[in-house]
Amino acid sequence: MKKVSLTGIKPTAQPHIGNWLGMHRPSLELAADPSVSAYYFVADYHALTTIRDPAELRRLTIDVAAVWLAFGLDPARTLVYRQSDVPEVFELSWILACFSPKGFMNKAHAYKAARDVNVAKGDDEDAGVNMGLYTYPILMAADILIVDADVVPVGQDQVQHVEMARDMAQRFNHTYGAEVLKLPTALVRGESGVVPGVDGRKMSKSYGNTLPCFSTAKQLRKAVMRIETDSTPPEAPKDPESSLVYKIHRALLTKERAEDLAAEYRSGISWGAAKQLLAEDLEALLAEPRAKYDELMRDPSAIEDILDDGARRVRGIAAPVLARVRAAVGVR
Ligand code: TRP
Repeated sequence: MKKVSLTGIKPTAQPHIGNWLGMHRPSLELAADPSVSAYYFVADYHALTTIRDPAELRRLTIDVAAVWLAFGLDPARTLVYRQSDVPEVFELSWILACFSPKGFMNKAHAYKAARDVNVAKGDDEDAGVNMGLYTYPILMAADILIVDADVVPVGQDQVQHVEMARDMAQRFNHTYGAEVLKLPTALVRGESGVVPGVDGRKMSKSYGNTLPCFSTAKQLRKAVMRIETDSTPPEAPKDPESSLVYKIHRALLTKERAEDLAAEYRSGISWGAAKQLLAEDLEALLAEPRAKYDELMRDPSAIEDILDDGARRVRGIAAPVLARVRAAVGVR
C-alpha cells in the first residue's frame, strides 16, 4: 500500500523563489516518490474566508494550479483538484464540527491571531471574524481525513491544524469504538526553504523584496541587481557567509556547487559578476517552467480539464470514507 500524502494550497498569486524552494520543490519531490500517492488540491473554499471578488477567486484558483503544473506536477501521477468540487469534504466537515469542542476551536492560531489584533486595538475581540475563519481547522481536517491521508506536508505554521485534525479523528474513533478515520501526521518542511529577500529580510511578498518565479527574464534580472551589497572593491576577496548575494544563490545550488561558488567569492569576484552568475543560474532553472506557465495560462480550459478529472478521481476515493463515517454515526 502506498502512503497517501495530501496537501492543500491556498490560492495566492505570484510565487517567488522562496516559495518555490521551500514549498513547491520539496512537495514535487515527494510526489515523484514511487512509494507515495500524492493529492495536491486548491483550497478555494478556505480562500473564501477572505476573498470577496468572484473574478479574483476564479483567477487565483486557475493561476495556482498553473504554477504547480508549470513546476512539473504530473497530473497523471498526482491528483490535482479543486476543494470546492468535492462535496464529500463539506459533509464530513459538518460531522467533524460536531466532534470539535468550542473551547478547542478557540485555541486555533488563525483565530487567535485575529483576536489578538482586535484586543490590541481595543476592538471587540471577535470583530471581523467570520465563522469560516473560526472553523477553518475543521474544514482543513475534513480535507485531510476524507482521503485517509497518512502524511500532510505543511509549513511550520500549519502543524497545529494537522494536529487538530488528528485530535478530531481520535475523538471520533473513540466515540464509536472503531478505527473509522485514519490518523494523519504532519510532515514539516525543512528550514532550507528560508531564503532571504533582496533586502536581507526573509523573502516575502509583504516586504516587496522577492525574486518572482514567473516574471520576464528582464524583470528577474532587475530584481537580482537590487540585492543589497557593501562597498568592498571589485577585486577584493569577499566573505561568502556574510554576503546576501551568496546566501540567496546558495539556496539554489547543491552543496558541492555552493562550495565552488564560495571559493570564487574568497578569491575575489565583483558584486556585478556575482549577481550575473546568480541571474544566469536563476534563468537556467526558471526558463522552462516560465514557458510552461505562459503556455498554460494561454489556454486555461486545459487546466480546468485537469482539475475536473482530479475531482472525479478523488471523489471515488472520498465516497467510501464518507460512507464509513455515515454508517458509524447512524445516518442511513
Ligand atoms: N491551511 C493551509 C494553508 O494555509 C491550506 C490547507 C487547506 C491545507 N487545507 C489543507 C494544507 C489540508 C494541508 C492539508 O497553507
